[in-house]
Amino acid sequence: MAKVTVVGAGFVGRTAAMRIAQRGLADVCLIDIIEGWPQGIVLDLKHSAPVERFEVEIVGTNDYKETANSDVTVITAGFPRQPGMSRMDLLGKNAEIVRSAVEQVTEHSPNTMMITVTNPLDEMTFLAAEVSGSPRERVMGMAGVLDSARLVHYIAEELKVSPLSVEAMTLGSHGEQMVPLPRHAKVDGKPLTDLADAETLNRLYERTANAGAEVVSLLQKGSAFYAPSASVAKMVNAILGDTKEVMPVCAWVSGEYGISDVFVGVPARLGRAGVEEVVEMDLNEDELNQLREAAEAIKAKCAELEKLG
Ligand code: APR
Repeated sequence: MAKVTVVGAGFVGRTAAMRIAQRGLADVCLIDIIEGWPQGIVLDLKHSAPVERFEVEIVGTNDYKETANSDVTVITAGFPRQPGMSRMDLLGKNAEIVRSAVEQVTEHSPNTMMITVTNPLDEMTFLAAEVSGSPRERVMGMAGVLDSARLVHYIAEELKVSPLSVEAMTLGSHGEQMVPLPRHAKVDGKPLTDLADAETLNRLYERTANAGAEVVSLLQKGSAFYAPSASVAKMVNAILGDTKEVMPVCAWVSGEYGISDVFVGVPARLGRAGVEEVVEMDLNEDELNQLREAAEAIKAKCAELEKLG
């Protein structure tokens, strides 16, 4: 059985651990700095196993030794947003946490694949790759699956159809520079652009880009976790199941779309080797420009991050 470590037993981490265990995707190690938390959550989760009928091993710990030999590590440790905060407001604080977590994980699992979830997502993915020194195709960030799911939800709600009828994907950054792709979206096989006017689409895209903030402002304390953890589980399943599915992932791009040397949201084929291919969709000039601008903005933030040390 493969092993997945989830770093951070907060809302996203514990829910991701639950989804991975319930789906039987891997044995799970949940680690947090707060003593008792991962142990308590794991005990509770184990109590649910006879009801949910899963048999994987689950361990809750504060000791990185127990994370040894992980196939995949999901990094959720860090502060979530508070109302009024942007993801970038978390940069300095979360960089320290992610750096320390990645160092310790890598010490015990030098070959682990890494999926970052901590915000600001694109920059934390870059940091995780730098600190781990892992081959870039083994490090990726979870954002596009989540943003695309949110977009699908809003389209389905607007058009009063099942979310299962909608296909839509977002690329770019996890934040303001999300790149929606109206030309590629479909509802029951029909082009989305035939079913909704530009004004409606823009409203849905704006709502999608701000969906995380919408959840934060309603919750008042903490940020989204059901959809983020579901998105993590989908990526873990694709990697460990070697499914070769293509999904939007924050991945290292070297030349595709005329973009190089940056982690940015692109369609990626996932399998046992990690990001096995950055898939080049047929983008028009405007879409390409949006993607390139998002990549440039992420590069600038990563340079800021490097200055922070
Ligand atoms: N090592 C391990 N765990 C840590 C560390 C560390 N160095 N520092 C903090 N943590 C833990 C906290 O103790 C807490 O349990 O990370 C957990 C974060 O959990 P929450 O505060 O509930 O945050 P959550 O909602 O799970 O979001 C985590 O994911 O979506 C992003 O923006 C979100 O950056 C945030 C991250």
